[in-house]
Amino acid sequence: MNKEHTAHDELSSKRILVSLVKVKKYFSDGWRSLLSGSSKVRAVDGVSIDIRAGESFGLVGESGCGKSTLGRVILGLHKASSGNVLYKDDDIYNLIRNNRKAFRRQIQMIFQDPSSSLNPRKKIGRIMADPFVIHHPELSGKAVRRKSAALLEEVGLSAYHLDRYPHELSGGQKQRVGIARAMALGPEMIVCDEPVSALDVSIQAQVINLLDRLQKKFNLTLLFISHDLNVVHHLSDRIGVMYLGKIVEIAPRNRLYHQPAHPYTHALLSAIPISDPDEQKQRILLKGDLPSPSDPPAGCRFHTRCPEVLDICSQLEPQLVSVAADHYAACHLSHDNRGDRSIVH
Ligand SMILES: Nc1ncnc2c1ncn2[C@@H]1O[C@H](COP(=O)(O)OP(=O)(O)OP(=O)(O)O)[C@@H](O)[C@H]1O
Ligand SMILES: [Mg+2]
Repeated sequence: MNKEHTAHDELSSKRILVSLVKVKKYFSDGWRSLLSGSSKVRAVDGVSIDIRAGESFGLVGESGCGKSTLGRVILGLHKASSGNVLYKDDDIYNLIRNNRKAFRRQIQMIFQDPSSSLNPRKKIGRIMADPFVIHHPELSGKAVRRKSAALLEEVGLSAYHLDRYPHELSGGQKQRVGIARAMALGPEMIVCDEPVSALDVSIQAQVINLLDRLQKKFNLTLLFISHDLNVVHHLSDRIGVMYLGKIVEIAPRNRLYHQPAHPYTHALLSAIPISDPDEQKQRILLKGDLPSPSDPPAGCRFHTRCPEVLDICSQLEPQLVSVAADHYAACHLSHDNRGDRSIVH
């Protein structure tokens, strides 16, 4: 048995930490809702996924496809319009209602823009102290400072930075503070929403490597959201590809890269620049923009832009079905898509 196979088997046997069952999140479409009486932005439209304890799950897709909304639903920052969001088999809204603080200790978040997530008027020491003051008021100021310094060291900064203001730090250093703060209470899971998109390319790799190291060292569960498949590749055990509010493919990282089953994943992969000049790759250019999530196309939502579209694609919505071990796709082309192997119960 090869090494990749063993790692994959190990992963798929891990317990499930977060489970989404047919989750929808619709937003009101403002004045359009008033005019039509029914229009809604279907940001997330029937997503069922399991995120396993200790895995790094990458969520990728074009701008506006619903990635951040899905992340915010998992964090309990948005209430799902319908469906179930479970954390260790418990409904997350019950967990939050019963003990918001305990839930917050378990799932933390890292956002895209490190500048706007750090209060410019507070020194880093104060910013780092906040979670301890709220969750561990019994700790002395000295103990909080000691713990904060240790966390900064864990992310490649030092006690020196405790007395600096955010504007005295570079973008990469600010994001390291964001990561240290997310780690402060020893969470089980961190939702990282485009954590490197605002950073220079040279700094991106450092921050990705840091997240990768922390994930392994502390056995963290990561939901890593990005519009860039290249970025997701470095960090993810499994990857979910999202299109217009739906998951269209889920597979272990290498499987997704080498044997993608959905034409949308093909197109995303073909857009990744390659460093080897001898390697040939044909870029698949998708027609048009992402359709409006208020009025998604009938049948397969991707059919209006799909280079391999069939007649059936505009009539029947393909279900997310198993195409290989731990690999699921929602496409009429890749398999017998009659719904009999659907994982969407
Ligand atoms: N609070 C809100 N109210 C109304 N519509 C919203 C709200 N939040 C998101 N949307 C809409 O839901 C859809 C999905 O947005 P979301 O931010 O989840 O996409 P995304 O995949 O994270 O995009 P990006 O890559 O640009 O961050 C978009 O059409 C967006 O305009
Ligand atoms: Mg987003």
